[in-house]
Amino acid sequence: MSSPSEAAPSNTDRVYIFDTTLRDGEQSPGATMTLEEKLQVAEILDTMGVDIIEAGFPIASNGDFEAVATIAKRAKNAVIAGLARAIPADIDRAGEAVRFAKRGRIHTFVSTSPIHLAHQMKKTEDEVLEIVTKTVTQARNLIDDVEWSGMDATRTPIEFLARCTEAAIKAGATTINIPDTVGYSTPEDYYALIKGLIEMVPNSDQAIFSTHCHNDLGMAVANSLAGVRAGARQVECTINGLGERAGNAALEEVVMALRTRADALPYHTNIETTHLSRASKVVSAAANFPVQYNKAIVGKNAFAHESGIHQDGMLKNASTYEIMTPESVGIKSTSLVMGKHSGRHAFKEKLKDLGYELADNQFQETFQRFKDLADRKKHVYDDDIIALVDDEMGSS
Ligand code: KIV
Ligand code: ZN
Repeated sequence: MSSPSEAAPSNTDRVYIFDTTLRDGEQSPGATMTLEEKLQVAEILDTMGVDIIEAGFPIASNGDFEAVATIAKRAKNAVIAGLARAIPADIDRAGEAVRFAKRGRIHTFVSTSPIHLAHQMKKTEDEVLEIVTKTVTQARNLIDDVEWSGMDATRTPIEFLARCTEAAIKAGATTINIPDTVGYSTPEDYYALIKGLIEMVPNSDQAIFSTHCHNDLGMAVANSLAGVRAGARQVECTINGLGERAGNAALEEVVMALRTRADALPYHTNIETTHLSRASKVVSAAANFPVQYNKAIVGKNAFAHESGIHQDGMLKNASTYEIMTPESVGIKSTSLVMGKHSGRHAFKEKLKDLGYELADNQFQETFQRFKDLADRKKHVYDDDIIALVDDEMGSS
C-alpha cells in the first residue's frame, strides 16, 4: 500500500515520515512562528518528501487554525494533519481546518497512563476506553484518515494500552501512535512495547503503528529506530529535533540513520536528503532557535575536521573519517578547519587553495609560525595565513 492514510502491514520496508515541527516543535518555549514562517517551513517539508505534515493544533488559537487551513490548501504532496484533544469541539475544529487539504488527517489523543488518569484526567480506565471509541468515531465521521495517540503510552500498562488501541482501530483509526511523551523509554523498552502491542491487538493489521519519541534522556532517535525494527512504519519527528523540553526525535537523524545504516536498518523513506541542510536553516531562522555546532547531520561542525590525523586521512580518502557525504545532506563540501591540531598535509593543501606553493624551507618556517599563531588564537582565518605567507616571502 502506498498511501499513509491506508493501513500498511508492518512487514513492508517503507517508513512514513510524519513531521511535527509546526505543532510539537512550535511548543518549544520561544519557538512560536508567524503564518509566513510556517508557510515557508511547510513548503520545504512538502518539497522534500515528508509524508504527513502536522501543521498545528487548530483549536489552540485562530492563528493556528489559519495556519493549518492555509497549509492544507497549499500542500501539493503531503497529508496535512491537525491535532485535537479528545474533546468534540477540538475534533470539529481540526476537521474544519484540514478539510481544505487534498488529503487531510485528524490526529486525536487522550492520556492512557495511570499517572495521567489519576492526577490530570481523574478518569477510570473504562471511562477512557469510552472516550477513545467516541472521539475516534466522531473524527471518522468527518474524515477517512484518523490517527489516534495514547498520551504517555510508555508509562501505560501494555494490557490497557492494547485495549485502547483495539478500540481505536475498531472505531476507525488508521494510524496508532505510541508516544514516549516524557522521553522515559529505552530502545529495549520501546521495541518490546511496539512489538508486544502489534502481537496482542487482534486488529493491529488494520493500522499503521507510529513512533513519537521525546528526547529527555537523549534517546529519541534510538527509540524511534527501535520502534521501526519492532514494526512501526510511521516516525513522528521534527527538523533539528525541535520540541517540548529536550525536543522530539530529529527528522534528519532518523532519515540519515536509515539511509546510512541500511545494512542494519533495512527500511526506506521518501525524503530527498539533499534538502536537509536547507530545512534545518529555514526552521532555525523561523523558530529563532540556533542549531548546536556539533548537532548530528546539520550542525556547523557535522562535516568539519580539525585534527591533523583526520585531515590527513580526509585528504587521502574521505571515507576514512566520514560515513556520509556532505553533498548527500545538501552541504557543499567537507571543511578542513585550520587550527593547532592541523598537520602539514592539510596546511600544504590550504596554501595550494590560497594559490601558494612555497619552497621547502619557507614552508617549514611558515608552518611553524602558523602553529604558534594557532596556539594563541581560537580561529585562524585564511587572511591570517595569507599574512604569514606574505611575511615569510617578503623576508626571504
Ligand atoms: O508527546 C505527546 O504525547 C504528544 C501527543 C499529543 C501525540 O505530542
Ligand atoms: Zn510530543
